[in-house]
Amino acid sequence: MQTRHRLTNQVSEEQQTQYTLRELKALSKIGEALGAPLELASIAHRVMEILYQEMGMRRGTLALIEEETGDIVIQVALGLSDKERRKGRYRPGDGIIGRAVAENRPIVVPNVGREPDFLDRTGARAGIAKADLAFIAVPLKFKGKVLGALTADRVFDDKTVPLDEDLRVLTTVAALFGQAVELHRIHESERRALQVQADNLEKQLKARFRLDDVVGNSPRMEEVYEAVAQVAGSRATVLLRGESGTGKELIARAIHANSPRARGPFLKVNCAALPETLLESELFGHEKGAFTGATGARKGRFELADGGTIFLDEIGDISLTTQVKLLRVLQEMAFERVGGSQTIHVDVRVVTATHRDLEARIPEGRFREDLYYRLNVVPIFLPPLRERKDDIPLLAEHFRRRFCRENEKEVAFSEEAVWELTRHDWPGNVRELENVVERLVVMSPAGAVSGDTVARLLRLMPAPQEAPRAPRAERAVTAEAPRPAPAAAADRSLKAGVEAIEREQILAALERCGWVQARAARLLGITPRMIGYKIRKYGLAPSDPAVLPVSRARDEAPDDAP
Ligand SMILES: Nc1ncnc2c1ncn2[C@@H]1O[C@H](COP(=O)(O)OP(=O)(O)OP(=O)(O)O)[C@@H](O)[C@H]1O
Ligand SMILES: [Mg+2]
Repeated sequence: MQTRHRLTNQVSEEQQTQYTLRELKALSKIGEALGAPLELASIAHRVMEILYQEMGMRRGTLALIEEETGDIVIQVALGLSDKERRKGRYRPGDGIIGRAVAENRPIVVPNVGREPDFLDRTGARAGIAKADLAFIAVPLKFKGKVLGALTADRVFDDKTVPLDEDLRVLTTVAALFGQAVELHRIHESERRALQVQADNLEKQLKARFRLDDVVGNSPRMEEVYEAVAQVAGSRATVLLRGESGTGKELIARAIHANSPRARGPFLKVNCAALPETLLESELFGHEKGAFTGATGARKGRFELADGGTIFLDEIGDISLTTQVKLLRVLQEMAFERVGGSQTIHVDVRVVTATHRDLEARIPEGRFREDLYYRLNVVPIFLPPLRERKDDIPLLAEHFRRRFCRENEKEVAFSEEAVWELTRHDWPGNVRELENVVERLVVMSPAGAVSGDTVARLLRLMPAPQEAPRAPRAERAVTAEAPRPAPAAAADRSLKAGVEAIEREQILAALERCGWVQARAARLLGITPRMIGYKIRKYGLAPSDPAVLPVSRARDEAPDDAP
């Protein structure tokens, strides 16, 4: 058993009583702390605090055996900095802490200055007169199994404290603590197991719900993802709305890919690209001799899509006769081939899309109301790109990578290039951005694309009114205005407003900083390079000609400055 250390045997009875009282008070407080519903580290910290406040024990530490390595690692330490604490790692048998654990017994060092085994690995006692410093380490156990150690320092400024009393207190605390540590360990391993389960579940869900090709994390796109996730599993008819190039087809494919029919076929029919009779034969098939040139029977897309999904694009453009036939398919999943009399039954999920204002076409008699309600079971709106500009850098990067790979060259976008892309309104939406990025990658020499190159290319793009709203093949039949003019005007004035604010802010920052660009940039939270670029873009110059704009050496050349 442990040798009894008594620093002084001149402890009076009164001192002994005082000590016992303090001890009882400390133990009762510690008992309370151990029962608190807190993390183990917080509890340990509180216990060390009590030992310090009530008993004057300093630099209390809790060291636990790490399961993976078997090392004894200081987890919590009072009076040790984080840096010092992290150095506290011992092998069993190593130093006093290591010995207390390996030998499963308390160890008291009455004078650490004279103890070669005392490592002070944390360095917490460097520069302290070690002659008057005692150190106690007691093993932390639960049901006989050693879990770690509890330690404390004691400075013997008053020579009245019996060290063996300290040892007794610490041993009692360690016994109480062992139980708490074990309970927390069990709790922690249960929590970890649950976390693993949750992670696996999430992985499984993600594997089932794949939107890999769809880029964007703006709140507007999050809404789209949520809607897709909700409808993918069902057979509900989906109507995708949104301007040209917003990703309607991409989402239609995502719905199919995430549905139970993913292994079945996905067939797309562009309803605007074909005249009425051809469209009907395309959708429902035809029998031999149904019309001139029908030399043999042919299956339609609905038959071919059996067990899968059919995507009817530009649904707003179909004739009233075809609308009637479509309505019947949607209601009964049954139809006849053109020129045939045999009813064919299929199991097809229908996803449709249009950029047209269907609601406006109903009173005009161009779209059947009953079909509208059949199609509009679940509408999903794809927002125009100008309403989710925060997605532009992400999309640009996605396309840049793809076109670099396809063209086997390495072209990067400068910060200014991305800024120019974000400033643009993109009337042709994601498709237009995709085309611009492709052109930039193909045209630019390897290296970084400048903001000016992007600005030049965007100036050459058709103005919003003339921008093609649909791919070439569909343009002939897509004669409607791309977007109501007032909305376009409002967009433009918003853009102008935002730019005016930005210009003002930059000007104010420059004036505050005496036109020292680097300082103004810091003030605005942008890079000096970017501020140089914006100064040129907005044509900013000091009102007092005596003030010379100061830019960093690597900024634009002075003769470039306004
Ligand atoms: N969120 C997105 N992430 C990545 N690529 C996108 C995204 N949205 C659209 N695209 C790409 O932009 C192009 C246009 O998308 P899509 O064909 O789906 O648009 P659309 O709404 O069907 O247009 P239209 O009405 O003109 O047919 C496609 O190449 C598509 O891959
Ligand atoms: Mg499309």
